[in-house]
Amino acid sequence: MGASTGVTDRPTILGIESSCDDTAAAVVRADGPRGEILSSVVIGQADLHAVFGGVVPEIAARAHVGKLDHAVEAALAEARVPLRDLDAIAVTAGPGLIGGVLSGVMLAKGLAAATGLPLLGINHLAGHALTPRLTDGLAFPYLMLLVSGGHCQFLRVAGADRFTRLGGTIDDAPGEAFDKTAKILGLPQPGGPAVEAAARTGDPARFAFPRPLLDRPGCDLSFSGLKTALLRARDAVIADQGGLTRADRADLCASFQAAVADVLAEKSARALAASPGLTAFAVAGGVAANATLRARLETVAAAAGTRFLAPPLALCTDNAAMIAWAGIERFRLGQADDLTLAARPRWPLDAAAAPLLGAGKRGAKA
Ligand code: KG4
Ligand code: ZN
Repeated sequence: MGASTGVTDRPTILGIESSCDDTAAAVVRADGPRGEILSSVVIGQADLHAVFGGVVPEIAARAHVGKLDHAVEAALAEARVPLRDLDAIAVTAGPGLIGGVLSGVMLAKGLAAATGLPLLGINHLAGHALTPRLTDGLAFPYLMLLVSGGHCQFLRVAGADRFTRLGGTIDDAPGEAFDKTAKILGLPQPGGPAVEAAARTGDPARFAFPRPLLDRPGCDLSFSGLKTALLRARDAVIADQGGLTRADRADLCASFQAAVADVLAEKSARALAASPGLTAFAVAGGVAANATLRARLETVAAAAGTRFLAPPLALCTDNAAMIAWAGIERFRLGQADDLTLAARPRWPLDAAAAPLLGAGKRGAKA
């Protein structure tokens, strides 16, 4: 037990995550350069938000309050690790929907105060960005592309607390664009899987959607114009034919997906070219589940002579194992927070980078 000795080379840490619409808790033990996930519990809230067509912060916060205790109990029981055998408690302290983040931080503080265990406030984005180390023990420095419903940025990860943002979205995240596309075409939520499935039989060349910001240097991205173009294309087809056929929908989805993939592929190539000496190009976030996109990014990595790494899907999307792992990284650096730890709605990983504008429906983009 590390808490009483203060040192251990295999710290075991409880992670708590409640920054968006998943209530999650996990226990992870360090195993050399990577982590052993002893348990990872994720309780989703999709059913609570479905009728509103997006995550409602107030509903999310209340649901977290109701589910966090249960998630933590389940994670400890599944891991067969009693609280007293933990080395520390790690919790997402931002960025995200503030009500949810506060619920998690309050619970973690209570547990830390009651047990005397060290408390570690974790940046949610650092959790995503360090996941390739949890799964594969990936050495620094590597390039991370975070693509989800709330995030889209290129990060050069040079250490557990050394992130350089090479670029990011200036408006929507790609997941939001997939979700809005699905909404516009009457497909179910979450939109990503529905759009990908529909695109399978579609013609990606039928609609010439814009490739935003490709004409500008750098690695910033934009997705909001794509959604407007899709809306116009849909209306034009309806005006022309009186409605949308299944094939039209498939072509719209395929053309939209091709535009997203083209933009992400080109910006990834630029980010790789801008950062020599990388050990790998890694992706994380729900959109990384998209097979077309993954294949394109793999090709880009191969062309740059860089290893491509995508964590298993359950670790690409929001979870608490990544928070526990980020806690292990901080614990190993001898860092800890005290009970004044604050919940932060915004918390850029790279404080030196210019702030990105916009806050999507999934919460603030750091
Ligand atoms: O990482 P995640 O679970 O949650 C956050 O947004 O933080 O990502 C969810 C997003 C949703 O917008 C969803 O539509 C998108 O990931 N997504 C996909 C696919 N699967 C999920 N987007 C494109 N293709 C997919 N197969
Ligand atoms: Zn996330």
